[in-house]
Amino acid sequence: MSEKSRVPSDVRERVEELREQIRHHDYRYYVLDSPEISDAAYDELYAELKRLEAEQPELVTPDSPTQRVSGQTRPGFNEVEHHAPMLSLDSGSDEETLRRFDSRVRTALDGPVVYIVEPKLDGLSVELVYEDGQLARAATRGDGRVGEDITPNVRTIGSVPLTLRAEREAPSRLALRGEAIMMIEDFERLNAQLTQADKPVFANPRNAAAGSLRQLDPGVTAERPLVFFAYEIMAVDGQTFESQSDRLTAFGDWGFKISRHVKKADDIDEAIAWHHQLESERDDLEYEIDGVVVKLDDLAAREELGATAHHPRWAFAYKFEPRREISEIQAIVVQVGRTGKLTPVAMLRPVDVGGVTVSRASLHNREEIERLDIRVGDKVRIQRAGDVIPQVLERIDDSKTKRGPRFRMPERCPSCGTEIVSPGGPLDYCPNGLACPAQLKGRLQHFASRGALDIDGLGERTVVQLLESGLVESVPDLLTLEAKELMELEGFAELSANNLVEAVEEAKHTTLDRFLYALGIPEVGAQTARDLAAHFGTLDAVLEAGPEDLEAVAGIGPKVAEAAHDFLSNSTTRKMIERLRQRGLTVEEAERPSSDALAGLTFVFTGSLSRLTRSEAKDLVESLGGRTTSSVSSKTDYVVAGEDPGSKYEQAQELDVKILSEDDFLAMLPKGAR
Ligand code: IVH
Repeated sequence: MSEKSRVPSDVRERVEELREQIRHHDYRYYVLDSPEISDAAYDELYAELKRLEAEQPELVTPDSPTQRVSGQTRPGFNEVEHHAPMLSLDSGSDEETLRRFDSRVRTALDGPVVYIVEPKLDGLSVELVYEDGQLARAATRGDGRVGEDITPNVRTIGSVPLTLRAEREAPSRLALRGEAIMMIEDFERLNAQLTQADKPVFANPRNAAAGSLRQLDPGVTAERPLVFFAYEIMAVDGQTFESQSDRLTAFGDWGFKISRHVKKADDIDEAIAWHHQLESERDDLEYEIDGVVVKLDDLAAREELGATAHHPRWAFAYKFEPRREISEIQAIVVQVGRTGKLTPVAMLRPVDVGGVTVSRASLHNREEIERLDIRVGDKVRIQRAGDVIPQVLERIDDSKTKRGPRFRMPERCPSCGTEIVSPGGPLDYCPNGLACPAQLKGRLQHFASRGALDIDGLGERTVVQLLESGLVESVPDLLTLEAKELMELEGFAELSANNLVEAVEEAKHTTLDRFLYALGIPEVGAQTARDLAAHFGTLDAVLEAGPEDLEAVAGIGPKVAEAAHDFLSNSTTRKMIERLRQRGLTVEEAERPSSDALAGLTFVFTGSLSRLTRSEAKDLVESLGGRTTSSVSSKTDYVVAGEDPGSKYEQAQELDVKILSEDDFLAMLPKGAR
């Protein structure tokens, strides 16, 4: 008996019918935003399909609407090579640059042109590949040549069709590009939920979209409200298109969402007008956009113009100015961070800057306040760049405002009253260390943070509760928390208390670099902590090191060495480490370099390498005792440039840093290293 005949044909038909209906309603709901049936009626269809598929598992197909979530967490993302490099766009925020782009285009094509002006969606760029109408693969942009395979995650996005709609014939192969974004409303709801759960929130919808999509567990992605908009065809077999407008129509037919804010422009002035129009509506849109993309409509003309190594010559991203508003300084308060550093913060009359209420902005230090020449009562212009952190740009001269007195740093710590020290330069410190409540709070938070011991569920709110209740008076106290005492705290139930105890238990076994970072050694960030760990190997070796030994670590100068040594040899630090160990903390030995062939050398990689991945290259350098950093400076010894190197290549030239090809780099490694 053949496979097929085992399932009664009426069941088979019903399953097909249900799938058709569910696909239709998914499309109405996720793509058109216009459902035809109630959620309850939809749930019924879905439940019936689920039931039939459970009874007849051989009927389950990968494109069934029930198969959006595949289930398992993966150990990491696989790399996928893009068919054609995923280029980025030439961009600028001034009209002049855009006009120059336009005249280049018209000169090259020798005539007038038509543009399509699309919103520049602020999310994560994703490439989708369909084979015979079925979603076959989804990948991030990565470095443009190689991206990450995020297919299981993308399958969970309701507005990504698993099967192209039959409104238009499905090509045998279709590769397209679009943006996965999070709607502003959904972003706010998600952050509210995260706050409730005492988890870190996302800074903006783009980070939320990226963080949700790059989850190793597609189940988590499925819970996040992501939306996909299609905007470019990268390759299509068997069908030809003449214009971007035709392609956008095709996207609609295939069941993709396309932005409602696309406009055809007969010349650059119309494109500029649309940019201004969208900029003025920007704060009322349902998603974040950071400009418009001006693209040639005519695809044959695009062919003619071609692309540079970085971007197509037929498109330009005309960005919006960062959002700016005017506010007033109501007070300047001084905060004490985990290292004791004093940071003046401007308390502002709350203003809405692009949908986010800004009521405070860091003024960084005493000198910055002098530079800006600001006082309480002053009117100031503030800016929120793409990344939310608000900045005070300048004081606005206004004879009508009454200016307060000049700002002066307090002489005593606002948290513990200890006399402030100012070691010269712009910074001021409270020298009271962990005996200062503000510093203790900062240190506890830092100790538990992601790059440090990564104790899940121990965010700022919980740290404050632990301190206020007296359950924790020092860092080592974190290790002896008990579920029953936690349950006394507001917002804790048995489950959450047990989870936190469990998370602490897990964190007790850690790696040397994480532990060194967690200690909060002055001037020692995550990178320096890794350098120290790789150099010394064990915690005891780090603790025994003198200032000269520390200075011998590549990337550590005399000042950092001295500060780190003071901190590490200090009796408070020693006692703390001792007590952490007594309470069960164990620190793994770090992997030592297998040779010191590259000791003392600093590498920066740019562009795509062909024989090894970026991370393999970095591991290789580190295993040979060298270090890698992400930006070029005068301390960089070599920049290794692969295909399509970025701006680091030019920086290297400017700074006279030696540039190596991938082959040069491989050739300088000792035999057998690779
Ligand atoms: S077209 C070959 N259209 O902007 C060029 N990009 O660097 C393909 N973006 O990474 C890009 N909205 O993530 C295009 N309507 C739009 C876009 C758009 C947003 C993003 C894309 C890209 C970045 C530009």
